[in-house]
Amino acid sequence: MNKTEVLNANNHEAISRAIDLLKEGELVAIPTETVYGLAADARNINAVKKIFTAKNRPDNHPLIVHISSFEKLSEWAKDIPSIANIIAGHFWPGPLTLLLNKNDSVSDIVTGGLKTIAVRVPQHPVFLNILNKLNSGLAAPSANPHKRISPTKAEHVIDGLSGKIAAVLDGGQSNIGIESTILDLTQPTPKILRRGPVTKKMIENILGYEIDAPIQHTTSVSGNMKSHYQPNTKTLLMPKNDILQYINLNENSHKKFAIVHYSNIEITKSNNILEKMPNCKSNYAKLMYDILHKVDKLDIHEILVEMPPTDWDDCLDRLYRASHL
Ligand code: TXA
Ligand code: MG
Repeated sequence: MNKTEVLNANNHEAISRAIDLLKEGELVAIPTETVYGLAADARNINAVKKIFTAKNRPDNHPLIVHISSFEKLSEWAKDIPSIANIIAGHFWPGPLTLLLNKNDSVSDIVTGGLKTIAVRVPQHPVFLNILNKLNSGLAAPSANPHKRISPTKAEHVIDGLSGKIAAVLDGGQSNIGIESTILDLTQPTPKILRRGPVTKKMIENILGYEIDAPIQHTTSVSGNMKSHYQPNTKTLLMPKNDILQYINLNENSHKKFAIVHYSNIEITKSNNILEKMPNCKSNYAKLMYDILHKVDKLDIHEILVEMPPTDWDDCLDRLYRASHL
C-alpha cells in the first residue's frame, strides 16, 4: 500500500477524491460525531474485506453499516419493528446504532456471519455528504487497530493505520468522542448492547417503558470483549484515594506515572504527569480517547485513570476495558 493520503474534509476536491477512492474499493477514514470510522462501500465485498485486514480484526466481528436516512433502512434490514421508526425519528442522525435482522441482500462478510445487522445514520455533515453522493451504505468500524484506542482525530488514525488505508479525511476533533449506543431491536424488549451517548433513560423517555441494559451481555462481538480500547502502556483505573495511595507506595521506585484525573489531585513528585480532565461528562467523553492517545506516547510506566462517577456509564465501560489486564 502507498502512503496514506491526508485529505482536508473542508475542501470539495478532497471530498471528491475520497468518494472516488471509495468507489474504487479503497478504505477511507472519515470523521463522525462519535469517533473516526474506517469506511468501505458496504456493497463491495472486496473493499469490506480490506477493513478486517487493515485493522487486524477477526472476521467474525460484525461491522456497523452507515446510511444516509431512515428511508434507506429497508435496503439493509428486514422485519423492521415499528418502534425503529419512533426511535430513529428521535435519534437519527446521531450516535445511536440499531440492531435489526439483516436484509438477505447484505453479505455475511459485513455482519461477521450473523443474521443481524447494526445500522446507523451518522450526524457528521462530511459523512452524510459522502453517503448522499455515494448512494450506498458505508461499513465503518472505528478507525483504529483491533483492540486499541478509538480515534477522535485524524492524527490518531494516522498513528494506528498509516500505510494500511488509502486516505483519511481530516475533519478535526470528533464532537462527542465516544462510540454510538447500540440498541438491539430484534427482541420483544429493546436491549442496549453497548452503552453510549444515547442513554437508557433517553430511550425510555421516548418509548414510555423500561428497556434492558445489562452491564455484561453474552453477545460475542468485538465491543463486548473484556479487553478493548487499550493503550500500549499498562493502564489502571482507580478511585482518587487509591491513586494517591498507589503513588505513595511507589514513591521510592523508578516508576513514572501519567495520572488522568477529573477531581483535584495534588501530587508532589515532579516526574509524574498530571492530565486534568473536565468534570462534566460530555466534555470528559469528548477528550477521553485523545488524552489516552497523548499519554500513551509519553515515556512513562503506567497510566493511572481516576474512576469517573458511576453515571458516566459509557466512559466507565470503555475505561474498564482499557484497563483490563
Ligand atoms: O460510533 C460508532 O458506532 C463508530 C462510528 C464509526 O460509527 N463505530 C464503531 O464501530 O464503534 P466498531 O466496529 O468499532 O464497533 C461496532 C460494534 C462492535 O462491538 C460490534 O461487535 C457491534 O458493533 N456489532 C456490529 N454488528 C453487530 C451485530 N450484528 N450484532 C451484535 N453486535 C454488532
Ligand atoms: Mg471499535
